[in-house]
Amino acid sequence: MPVVDLRSDTVTRPTEAMKKAMMAAPLGDDVLGDDPTVKRLEAAAAERAGKEGALFTPSGTMANQIALALLTRPGDEVLMEAGAHPFNYEAAGGAVIAGVQIRAIPGQLGILDPLDVERHIRPTDPHFAPATLLCVEDTSNRGGGTVHTLDQLDALTKVAREAGLRTHLDGARAFNAVVASGVPLARRASGFDTVSFCFSKGLGAPVGSVLCGPLYLMERARRIRKMLGGGMRQSGILAAACLYALEHHVDRLAEDHQRARDLSMGLMMDGYDVRLPQTNILFVTVSDAPELQRTLEERGVLCLPTGPDTLRLVLHLDVDEAGVEQALQAFAELKGIR
Ligand SMILES: Cc1ncc(COP(=O)(O)O)c(C=O)c1O
Repeated sequence: MPVVDLRSDTVTRPTEAMKKAMMAAPLGDDVLGDDPTVKRLEAAAAERAGKEGALFTPSGTMANQIALALLTRPGDEVLMEAGAHPFNYEAAGGAVIAGVQIRAIPGQLGILDPLDVERHIRPTDPHFAPATLLCVEDTSNRGGGTVHTLDQLDALTKVAREAGLRTHLDGARAFNAVVASGVPLARRASGFDTVSFCFSKGLGAPVGSVLCGPLYLMERARRIRKMLGGGMRQSGILAAACLYALEHHVDRLAEDHQRARDLSMGLMMDGYDVRLPQTNILFVTVSDAPELQRTLEERGVLCLPTGPDTLRLVLHLDVDEAGVEQALQAFAELKGIR
């Protein structure tokens, strides 16, 4: 029985063409600053992000943690939406590495209201941790792959800037937002001090993320990466996969978005409680998520329960139309226990 893996867009395997690009990559020692393929990737990423420089990191988590440490001082407060990745899924790294306190602000489907952000910035007072950084996640993972409008992004960075906060855009799925909105990353990230994005999610590379920002920050970011053990040697072999992904796998994200819509429409027609997704992530509300997940698995359909009554399904490079059909068939057979 074929298996359709909808647990995450991180499960993709490198394609043959990507592996060929990896094998052909010229390599050096990146910690010594002479891996030409990493340099090429960092230049390409910085250009896409509209920033002066970029730093290749092993993961999106490390890129976020470097940003937190780079843009704050220990004892500061960092504002972000309550579902944001650094608050939920980075093992309290912000508290341990940067020494900051995260203030989690509930938003709508992962999107913060600028007025709420303004209200959460505490006045200057020795009792309070000073807020010095606002993090925005686009697309929002827990929000269901939601995309900020440009007005929302601009309003959030304006509020932050006016209150003297710095800004980081966690763009783990930035290119899903770019493809869904038709707005280039350089524009979407223009109001932010730093932006990170991942190659190892919808773009299909096995490993790799970047943190992009102005050169004066990137120098220190490189030192923090070293401190965290993220200095990699012949990492051009990985950077080559990321370059391949950037060159060949961005526009095709539209196919994932279409398949996510097809899947959600099919599920709706079967009476499942699901929202029409904006990008590649959908959440289905069911009565017993772990039980339904187990029975779907028996039918070759893998997904993740993200709560007692929620299943997450993510579309990506390795799920084709037949995979969507197989998932719909399995869900249809299990309507009775939804
Ligand atoms: C929004 C967001 N930020 C950061 C990350 C971290 O990426 P990584 O798994 O590469 O550490 C993820 C991973 O799913 C994510 O969804």
